[in-house]
Amino acid sequence: MIPARVIIAYFSPTGGTKKVALALKDGCSAALVHQVKTPSFTIKLPTTEVPVTTFNCLTAKSRHKDLQLTANDLFILAYPVYFGRMPWALSEWPALKGNGATAVVVSVYGNRAIEDGERETMMLLKEHGFKVVGAIEAIAEHSQERTLAQGRPDEQDQADFKTIAAQLLTAIKQGLPEFEFDATTPLKTPGKAPAVPRILERQRCDDCGRCARMCPMQIIDPDTLEVPEDKAHLCMGCRACMAVCKLDCRGLPPQVMAAVAARMAQIKAANPERKPNVLKLAH
Ligand SMILES: Cc1cc2nc3c(=O)[nH]c(=O)nc-3n(C[C@H](O)[C@H](O)[C@H](O)COP(=O)(O)O)c2cc1C
Ligand code: SF4
Ligand code: SF4
Repeated sequence: MIPARVIIAYFSPTGGTKKVALALKDGCSAALVHQVKTPSFTIKLPTTEVPVTTFNCLTAKSRHKDLQLTANDLFILAYPVYFGRMPWALSEWPALKGNGATAVVVSVYGNRAIEDGERETMMLLKEHGFKVVGAIEAIAEHSQERTLAQGRPDEQDQADFKTIAAQLLTAIKQGLPEFEFDATTPLKTPGKAPAVPRILERQRCDDCGRCARMCPMQIIDPDTLEVPEDKAHLCMGCRACMAVCKLDCRGLPPQVMAAVAARMAQIKAANPERKPNVLKLAH
């Protein structure tokens, strides 16, 4: 089938997943262009009026916004892998209704491993009424340690995403069965964030409240701008609150940063190779 609409949702606390989603959007738009070749020139025409749009699903508010799909739509969900799992904020998405739409999961990870994240996200989409037909595995800079997969997605990745989008749409046009995945083995135990980010330099904070509004878990108190003790266990360590702070006054204490850096140095040493972007389809 040629999809009636392509909707690419992305959950991107620090921007890497968004880069992958936007590259896939360009790739899908390009792949939905029909080329008419003559001996002397090529005309590019849209195949049909297929809108390719994005949906930012970072905040709890966005996940309460009506998002109804139909059996003729293609839904692509890009998320970052956390400790080999899906960000747990995504399990709370009441407004998402698949209604039989075709779906593809995009696992964006920092050159270590995806582990259970992919099948967990497939399970989520199945529960929301989607027909999952495939998965994309993509690399972006590690948001805990920027020197891991530094600069990715880069030019080579952008070219990969274009190819992957074209291959995906060709396969979808031809028709794909449901992707088979293991939905029964228990998922690995979720990892724990090293510490909850705090305001480290109070005098610089201008109380803009962006960190509280952007926290996917909505655990930052809008008055104190801190995470109360009884909600600290809900922090995913996603760093959205740090990334949105334009005054750069929110972060982790130096001793926590040092411990994270030491752990990440081990992960980096164990994963020195450039891992590829991969398209996996149901066959
Ligand atoms: C708390 C946390 C856990 C992470 N766990 C993994 C992991 O298990 N495997 C991996 O390869 N990358 C891991 N990463 C890296 C992210 O998946 C990767 O950097 C992703 O691109 C971040 O997306 P964003 O830039 O959209 O926030 C982790 C990052 C954070 C912050
Ligand atoms: S408080 Fe925790 S969950 Fe909320 S944005 Fe910051 S790191 Fe993410
Ligand atoms: S985003 Fe930064 S400046 Fe704004 S309230 Fe939060 S910590 Fe303060």
